[in-house]
Amino acid sequence: MSAVFDILVIGSGAAGLAAALHLANHGKVAVLSKGILSDGSTRWAQGGIAAVLAETDTHESHIKDTLAAGAGLCSPKTVRTVVKHGRHAIENLIKAGVPFSKYTGPDSEYEFHLTQEGGHSRRRIIHAADMTGKALQETLESKAQSHQNITLFEDHMAIDLISGRHLENPVKNGRCYGAYVFDIKNGHVVRVSAKATILATGGASRVYLYTSNPDGSTGDGIALAWRAGCRVANMEFNQFHPTCLYHPKAKNFLISEALRGEGAYLRLPDGTRFMPDFHKKAELAPRDIVARAIDHEIKRFGLECVYLDITHKGKDFILEHFPTIHERCLEFGFDMTKEPLPVVPAAHYTCGGVMTDLKGRTDVKNLYAIGEVAMTGLHGANRMASNSLLECLVFAEAAASDIVNNLSNLSAPPNVKPWDESRVSDADEEVVVSHNWEEVRRTMWDYVGIVRTDKRLERALRRVTMLGKEVQDYYGNFRVTKNLLELRNLVVVAELIVTSAMRRKESRGLHYSLDYPDLLDQAKDTILKPK
Ligand code: FAD
Ligand code: SIN
Repeated sequence: MSAVFDILVIGSGAAGLAAALHLANHGKVAVLSKGILSDGSTRWAQGGIAAVLAETDTHESHIKDTLAAGAGLCSPKTVRTVVKHGRHAIENLIKAGVPFSKYTGPDSEYEFHLTQEGGHSRRRIIHAADMTGKALQETLESKAQSHQNITLFEDHMAIDLISGRHLENPVKNGRCYGAYVFDIKNGHVVRVSAKATILATGGASRVYLYTSNPDGSTGDGIALAWRAGCRVANMEFNQFHPTCLYHPKAKNFLISEALRGEGAYLRLPDGTRFMPDFHKKAELAPRDIVARAIDHEIKRFGLECVYLDITHKGKDFILEHFPTIHERCLEFGFDMTKEPLPVVPAAHYTCGGVMTDLKGRTDVKNLYAIGEVAMTGLHGANRMASNSLLECLVFAEAAASDIVNNLSNLSAPPNVKPWDESRVSDADEEVVVSHNWEEVRRTMWDYVGIVRTDKRLERALRRVTMLGKEVQDYYGNFRVTKNLLELRNLVVVAELIVTSAMRRKESRGLHYSLDYPDLLDQAKDTILKPK
């Protein structure tokens, strides 16, 4: 089976839907999601979106904070571009109807309430209480659903990108023509061809055993692009969010950094604050520093968790600013208006990814990457809080404009070979897949976590290489399933992370090595090129 569109967007989070909406008046757009439309990270974003909105804020200040958080590795050009487009991106969302929280205090600098998060030198984060992502996702979804040029495909998972070698008359031209897509409910593979393809598949934090991310964050877009010949960069910079709720059943529930922005303290079990010993900004230090400090205290005292305390702000304040977090914590038996919350760090954000230019273009012609899947140069060695959704929005528009400008020059995609299932059979041992899922994530957590050493990385590389071979062998013999496809991508991403981490002989931002604790004079991206 096959389908032809002008543009194929793989992913229906903030980046994918925003791009589709910018493109929809110019051509037929297909948007894929491997689950329901809202199954990406966007839906779960809490804190908000950073942008220069208040009269007294400046681009220079946002740029300076982003560069400082990025520990010398951001691309100043990208940072400036994204920051400059921030207000426009937010105004679009306000026009689209995203219900941001209004400012209710006496002297208003801006119509909407701006909160504070780590690394920012002032309040600049617009938000919809503590469920910004839900408000954003719902608004974009409803716009996309009502646009006649957008076709939304839920439960459709891209397996691999279509290149010249997949055409009925094969060519070698470094172009992308769409993707082979697994229709999960019906169990068959379809060819979706398009003049231009956008990867908006989100991050890869599920490569770690403990993560704040939803289940689908398996780095699919990074693996697809890598297999298609794109360079991938800075994969060693995995951001661990300092504060996820510590409870056996909470799985991946985040306690927003906005709590610390609004004055919450991190405490040891005896009530002592420890962040002032680690950084002058204490609880509002950049995320890498806070996560490492918590890890340090947990290991030093043999603790299971530390505590986040906002009780001193009072019940009314907490209920107004953090209604969702309050309600969810109550379900686990914690009343944050009365007691500190137990928290631990967990994998949260993939700073590296598919290398792109300022228009979201990758190394493969007509293939774009936007949102968390991409490495644009904005985040450097450590993403500053709430800069991610901003990046999704700004790059969605940049990529869409580039596609629109070129669409009339692009020819319709030629015929693509059907998916070949002649040599595979139904899986005989599902346990191989479930076992390897667990093993790769545990390996990454134990050996490639917040603090790294050469020895641990070598161990990790041995294991993920072996797992990679086993999974590839299994993939070659058995019919695809969602679980198998995700695992196939996850092992690729794990290997990219470990390889990148081994190449960095210093400690910078989120990459901390006990063997190389110092910062080198020159900041360099770690760029991996497929063979
Ligand atoms: P996602 O929203 O993750 O969407 C990915 C999409 O790709 C999904 O639709 C998925 O189904 C689809 N997909 C993936 N693989 C395939 C495939 N193979 N085939 C088809 N479809 C596929 N950032 C901020 O700026 N501010 C915040 O307050 C904030 N809070 C956060 C809180 C949490 C709990 C989390 C997890 C993240 C938070 N972040 C925040 C980060 C931010 O939410 C994400 O970086 C951002 O939403 C990523 O958007 P995206 O569009 O790139 O991808
Ligand atoms: C949070 O609300 O703490 C998450 C913000 C982010 O990841 O940018």
